[in-house]
Amino acid sequence: MSLKVLSVASEAYPFVKTGGLADVTGALPEALAKHGVKVTTLLPGYPSLRARAGALSEAHSFTDLMGVPARLLMGELEGRSVALLDAPSLFDRQGGPYSDAKGKDWADNALRFAALGKAAAELARGAVPNLAFDLVHAHDWQAAMALAYLKYSDDGARAPPSVMTVHNIAFQGRFGADIFPKLGLPARAFALDGVEYYGGVGFLKAGLQAADAITTVSPTYAREITRAEFGMGLEGLIAARSGVVSGIVNGIAWDDWSPSQDLHLAKTYDAQKLAGRDANRAALESLFGLEPAPGPLFIVISRLTWQKGMDVLVACLDALVAMGGRLALLGSGDAALEDGFKSAAVRHAGRIGVRIGYDEALSHLMQGGGDAIVIPSRFEPCGLTQLYGLRYGCVPLVARTGGLADTIIDANTAALAAGVATGFQFDGMSDERLIHALERVSVAFGDRKAWRGLQRQGMKADFSWDRSAKAYADLYQNLIRGRA
Ligand code: ADP
Ligand code: GLC
Repeated sequence: MSLKVLSVASEAYPFVKTGGLADVTGALPEALAKHGVKVTTLLPGYPSLRARAGALSEAHSFTDLMGVPARLLMGELEGRSVALLDAPSLFDRQGGPYSDAKGKDWADNALRFAALGKAAAELARGAVPNLAFDLVHAHDWQAAMALAYLKYSDDGARAPPSVMTVHNIAFQGRFGADIFPKLGLPARAFALDGVEYYGGVGFLKAGLQAADAITTVSPTYAREITRAEFGMGLEGLIAARSGVVSGIVNGIAWDDWSPSQDLHLAKTYDAQKLAGRDANRAALESLFGLEPAPGPLFIVISRLTWQKGMDVLVACLDALVAMGGRLALLGSGDAALEDGFKSAAVRHAGRIGVRIGYDEALSHLMQGGGDAIVIPSRFEPCGLTQLYGLRYGCVPLVARTGGLADTIIDANTAALAAGVATGFQFDGMSDERLIHALERVSVAFGDRKAWRGLQRQGMKADFSWDRSAKAYADLYQNLIRGRA
């Protein structure tokens, strides 16, 4: 049986990406197709998407969607089935998907993403003739209101089943109660089992409450978010609904991230020809102004934020250099962290190189030339850069949390003896713990044969989408059967 799923998201690679969410919503549809699921992805009509909209045709129009006119444009874009919410006054503006060029959240984000949710619900309820969906899958708070609009539609009982995926529970879409009258929901929706959240409106909360199933992006994170330390205020709801919560670890787009055919590399290679990485390391050294040295070249590709533990890493950079390490960092985020890394690069010219910004091509080259990727996150729902690191033989050094705990096998004595280690993990976020972990990597790097073993073991790990896509397909089937 072929299933039709409407996936709702605020970003999807290759159309618009600010982080891992886009990698997942971009890659999952192709993987699901192999399991008999046809996904259509509804995205906001940002400028990057409008520019490609010529290939789409108008399928529906709204005279008043959150107070503005809008259209649904549908069709195939780069081999993907896409529905575009063309609402120029909400989405056709310069800047990022969520914030302006200076990083300030758009003041009307509540209405922008309520509109996305409302449009999704209308589409799922049959707004376009002869187009029916068997299930709605909403990703993160920006898409979550789709499920609330379905729940509170007149024929809510007949709405298709729904899945809410949490990619990061720290981002919740919380707004003041004053927004509620503008949402066009019935008064009864402003309630504990609806959209009300600590006296205001919570978009993610509303989606979690309305969804038939809740998933998050790793089994460990699924457990972590039932606790106050990780649940960010939603732990009670998650715990109460634990019967429908599961963790499905992300995969990676296997062909886009393949060192044997990656056009972004100076030299392609595979597990048998790891010496090919040397040319990529040399390219990195020259791009980041690093001097050749015998110690490991650490890399970081990350949002520079507290979540990612970047404040702790900044404090460890003198020690990293003192132990013979070098660092190439690509990222952007908190101004104070950007400054901290930039000044370390000045202090340790030739040893630390920093690129502030976003550069997809460079991120590939870094995975292909770096020796070890450092991911000291305080929490990490799944994390993708450690999976790219595994595939590229760039050995991951990660904090033992969320998806990082689930995807990396620490090189402890037992794992080394069994030949199954793929990286390094550390517990407890502190300068001392991170420095100790960096030292473990430096020492291991000194044993070339053992290091090659670690790289090859990581490269064997299969984090292609296949298994996880099957898990989503099974979940969809079960929910649809449950309704029948
Ligand atoms: P998160 O989504 O929390 O930021 P993930 O590890 O899941 O973390 O995904 C991050 C994605 O964004 C990866 O594809 C990573 O390579 C990419 N990325 C992060 N920062 C940059 C950057 N500055 N330049 C290019 N790619 C980046
Ligand atoms: C979020 C999480 C990250 C995860 C990504 C994709 O951005 O922070 O851990 O990998 O979503 O699911």
